[in-house]
Amino acid sequence: MWLPCGCTSKYVASSFARRILASHLHVSGRSRCNVAAFMPEAAGFEGVSGRAALRELSVSNSESFWAAVARHRLSWSIPFHTVQDCDLSRGKIKWFEGGKLNVSVNCLDRHVHTCPERVALIWERDERGWCCTDELLEMTCRVGNLLRRHGVKRGDCVTIYMPTCPLAVASMLACARIGAAHNVVFAGFSADALAERIRDAQSSTVITVNQGVRGGKVIELKKTVDTAVESCPTVKQVFVAMRTDNPVTMTARDIAMEEVREQKEMLKEDVVCEPAVMNSEDVLFLLYTSGSTGKPKGLVHTQAGYLLYAALTHRYVFSYHDGDVFGCVADIGWITGHSYVVYGPLANGATTVLFESTPIYPDPGRYWDMVERLKINQFYGAPTAIRLLLKYGDQWVNKYDRSTLKTLGSVGEPINTEAWEWYHRVVGDGRCPVVDTWWQTETGGICIAPRPSDPDAEIVPGMAMRPFFGIKPVLIDTEGELLTSNNTSGALCMAQPWPGMARTIHNNHQRFIETYFQPYPGYFFTGDGAYRSEEGYYQITGRLDDVINVSGHRIGTAEIEDVVNQCPAVAESAVIGYTHSIKGQGVYAFVVLKKGIDVKEADLSRQLNGMVSEKIAKYASPDFIQFAQRLPKTRSGKIMRRVLRKVVESDLEGLGDLSTLDDPAAVQEIIQGRRCHVMAQKR
Ligand code: WTA
Repeated sequence: MWLPCGCTSKYVASSFARRILASHLHVSGRSRCNVAAFMPEAAGFEGVSGRAALRELSVSNSESFWAAVARHRLSWSIPFHTVQDCDLSRGKIKWFEGGKLNVSVNCLDRHVHTCPERVALIWERDERGWCCTDELLEMTCRVGNLLRRHGVKRGDCVTIYMPTCPLAVASMLACARIGAAHNVVFAGFSADALAERIRDAQSSTVITVNQGVRGGKVIELKKTVDTAVESCPTVKQVFVAMRTDNPVTMTARDIAMEEVREQKEMLKEDVVCEPAVMNSEDVLFLLYTSGSTGKPKGLVHTQAGYLLYAALTHRYVFSYHDGDVFGCVADIGWITGHSYVVYGPLANGATTVLFESTPIYPDPGRYWDMVERLKINQFYGAPTAIRLLLKYGDQWVNKYDRSTLKTLGSVGEPINTEAWEWYHRVVGDGRCPVVDTWWQTETGGICIAPRPSDPDAEIVPGMAMRPFFGIKPVLIDTEGELLTSNNTSGALCMAQPWPGMARTIHNNHQRFIETYFQPYPGYFFTGDGAYRSEEGYYQITGRLDDVINVSGHRIGTAEIEDVVNQCPAVAESAVIGYTHSIKGQGVYAFVVLKKGIDVKEADLSRQLNGMVSEKIAKYASPDFIQFAQRLPKTRSGKIMRRVLRKVVESDLEGLGDLSTLDDPAAVQEIIQGRRCHVMAQKR
């Protein structure tokens, strides 16, 4: 059991030597010309005298750029011989081949000894301000040894179903230490969703906790795992840590993680765990994310390129400096948690905050109270939370001292101007740059953000604006033509590879190629649309596929439809996203019942909501369910989601050409049904 100590919290790891990010990395306010002070390894680039020239070079001569950065910022046991071997048309991406290293050594060992006072993790528990003390390197080694002792080998995949807590981070790093891949599943996913991910990843080992605690509520995580593994014949063992005092029923396949602590007492040498020497392109982790089909895809990230990209973006987008406390409030179950709670900050030797709670527990001052107590320098959160907090008013922010804040970040969905301005003016007192960061599970790290740029370069509210080093975005029109002018919109693609990009979809390279590389041959297709302004800045306009973004969580509409269609009363359904003032997008489901079904709509709605929560997760549950006689379809039988979206957004002018519809009267019925629905809501 992790005892609360009520102290100012020290988690882990000792020294965070600046072997890599030496003190001369500090960028003085306007050192526009001093590239070496800004990025030491850039000193070797001839003719590069400013940040703009450095960015130019990172794209035009990306091999030289990435080679220099990789040599400078990662600790290698054997240096790489080939910087990159990529062919986007075939979905082939390889970086730093020949190189060998260990990611946990890069995140922990190399920072230990030189700076023993540096704390690696500060765990902000659900219960405000209660933190723990331990050593992250030791903890990682003990978990690594435990896994090894129980037969986990290099190349195996371990599923982690845990709340954001130090042991979860140690488990991720322990996998990296012994050469196993991890598959972290967000602890809000249901047993079915977890089981699907365990099966697809072919995990034989799962790590979980007895119960989670979030917003004061207890969540039965171990029970969810028990249900999930019933349909996962590959699972041989489940490690169970104790997050609460409540006992939990153990089965023959369960192993209590407290053993890890006893080992510390019994076998001192077990705090040392020999790191596996990994190839740059060995798998570091799988992370499942939603696509436009019902089946989530396990994106694969590998060792060196991913770590380097997470570290470099963390350092430069947020202007992280040695000694800063970095506060990313994302859950470790998402890519943001992987890259900016764990790998990026730890690779840079930062003190990183693990936030287990919610923005409004116990009250809407939670984030800012935490900023004051933990003296957070960079705060990184989601627009949905900002929009929610904005509604509670400025007093919850002003109550707390936020003078330590230097940069504010936003991620996961577009941030509307009102939220951006409130974040900037109220939270940041008008003095902190707000960086709206665009990226995806697939990109591994931030690709477009206002910083790094010259320190006084303009930042336009609600715009991600500028591509990161080595990133070359392009816009392509529906005919597949490259759009070269400014003030134009198109499909957002990347014209060249970068080290952080995903390498494949686990067990399905064909789907990887079809999804990302076939739509626009020679380019990586992001699935998003974007606008490029007159000045050349990028603004994301939203997904071009059937993926929606609910409270910053990605979900495929097809995944929700698959569940709704499983209900025996349902003939067919169409799920779409609509603009929601807090969540960014809400879930709207149109449902057609089978003939002769006689049920109360309210009862069936409840049932369908329950099914979606149970099969996927609560956040995917529809906000509205509208029952219809039929759905508008093309003559070939394809549901016209575009039309449904317009009806829900009440944009009847924008319905467009309905002549291709099989039966245009279906649209009128839907419009009428929507009116009744809205009126019923108002009553
Ligand atoms: C959306 C989250 C607008 C986008 C890191 C992308 C954004 C998807 C932004 C990836 C942003 C992310 N502005 N939209 N700053 N950041 N998105 O994989 O649609 O969970 O494709 O990664 O979120 O979601 P994912």
